[in-house]
Amino acid sequence: MAQAETYDDRVVRLFILASAVWGIVGMLAGMYAAAELAWPGLNLDIPWLTFSRLRPVHTFGVIFAFGGSALMGTCYYVVQRTGYTRLALRRLALFTFWGWQLACVLAMVTMPLGMTQSKEYAEPEWLIDILIAVVWISFGTVFFATLARRRVQHIYVANWYYGAFIIAVALLHVVNNLVVPVSLFKSYPVYSGVVDAMVQWWYGHNAVAFFLTAGFLGMMYYFVPRQAQQPLWSYRFSIVNFWALISVYMWAGSHHLLYTALPDWVQSVGMAFSLILLMPSWGSAANGLLTFNGSWHRLKDDPAAKFMVLSLVFYAAATFEGSMLAVKTVNSLSHYTDWTVAHVHSGSLGWVAMITIGSLYAMAPRALGRPAMYSHKGMEWHFRLHMTGTVMYLAAMWTAGVTEGLMWRATNADGSLTYPFINSLLAIQPMYIVRWAGGVLIWLGMWVMAWNLWYTAADARHKIIQPIPVPIPEPEPDQVPVPLPAAG
Ligand code: HEM
Ligand code: HEM
Repeated sequence: MAQAETYDDRVVRLFILASAVWGIVGMLAGMYAAAELAWPGLNLDIPWLTFSRLRPVHTFGVIFAFGGSALMGTCYYVVQRTGYTRLALRRLALFTFWGWQLACVLAMVTMPLGMTQSKEYAEPEWLIDILIAVVWISFGTVFFATLARRRVQHIYVANWYYGAFIIAVALLHVVNNLVVPVSLFKSYPVYSGVVDAMVQWWYGHNAVAFFLTAGFLGMMYYFVPRQAQQPLWSYRFSIVNFWALISVYMWAGSHHLLYTALPDWVQSVGMAFSLILLMPSWGSAANGLLTFNGSWHRLKDDPAAKFMVLSLVFYAAATFEGSMLAVKTVNSLSHYTDWTVAHVHSGSLGWVAMITIGSLYAMAPRALGRPAMYSHKGMEWHFRLHMTGTVMYLAAMWTAGVTEGLMWRATNADGSLTYPFINSLLAIQPMYIVRWAGGVLIWLGMWVMAWNLWYTAADARHKIIQPIPVPIPEPEPDQVPVPLPAAG
């Protein structure tokens, strides 16, 4: 019997909108940065337009503004459905939305003006960091308070991932941003030398682990069974993978500092844990893909399912590549080259962006009370644009990376370098142009998604004035809210 109580999706809808807008903004910065690498004159001698300032605008924009908004929105959506309960602390949830948007705007404006801590993926200065910490703790409070009022005993696996993502990101953010402020817009870290480097890469790597992986796995574990209309291939396996991933990831960060002043044994620990990490990573990828067994026909006409399946393929590919790049001998070729950039975008454009887009297409009509997205063709076109653009991006950067690595290490019989550095830049310029063209396609795809989401929302406004609130179903006694998460 349905209860009078309904899910509270207002803040979810706001996050969907924000994610679409930040996707366009963040990828525009990436596209311009890619163009600057192909045609350096494009910095136009304007300080805030230079590559070094635009690059963090891109990374912050796509990871924290686009990805972060999608993660928070889906988290609020999923925790309600899997707990058969309404969102707790509604006003605090709204605060997390506006607070996160404010932090993103402040970061994206101050970084091009040169106000930065110069720590990769943690560029914003201390005042913005405090705001981020407050918003994040509020986000955790809303999530755990909602979880606490769930009406089934079991906690669905997606929530374990979201919970780990929230706790770990809070820890990483606070520890890595311990600084001594010297003015409103300048501070210095409390760490120095090699310790500073180690803390930074413990943070940087685990930002990948918990922001770009654990959070999106939470999304995957809810929306993949939902879209496949099948129970998870193995629920037990998903829990095993959870604990394996959580316990291994934290120790792998030193693979970012191979061949540096870091003690040798610390580098070896990072390499060993990176190899072990392949197992839980492939475990989740396999679990997600096998969930489509019996539902593969959905790939013919369901673009959301296509995005999800491809995201899992890229997740498997990027993690395999990551484990290989952590092997010292491979890293001696790949480090400093565009191979790393290819790996990053195989993970981010392939895994992160595709699981996000697939989940947004699955979630938006439900959160807006519509039967489907406004334009099916629009979703198909988005898939084509994103897929083609990603393949162009990756093929170009893999080629560029290996070319650079081989040219830099080539020596003549007398030991001198075969190629001057400039020759390697000239050799890869065509690949930079291809990467930029791929980026344009991906960016156009983001516009198609924004347009489609806008009209789905407009439909909701015109046809039913207010999105239909979805009643919360009554859970079966002692029900585990799996294998198929609750509808709605
Ligand atoms: C239109 C799509 C995109 C384009 C054209 C693009 C372009 C770029 C460019 C030019 C760089 C600088 C590379 C360098 O320093 O040599 C970069 C770096 C980066 N991008 Fe993207 N990007 C796109 C989408 C994304 C997305 C969706 C994400 C994440 C969700 C992402 C995450 C990153 C990260 C983490 C880096 C730093 C890489 C590193 O340090 O090796 N990008 N991107
Ligand atoms: C088993 C899982 C993974 C392992 C072992 C791994 C390993 C590595 C290694 C060895 C590097 C190169 C470090 C260097 O030479 O500087 C790297 C860079 C990077 N990876 Fe992964 N990776 C994994 C998965 C992923 C995924 C899924 C993503 C994205 C969603 C990702 C994002 C990144 C980023 C952003 C960097 C560049 C960091 C920087 O230098 O700015 N990785 N990873």
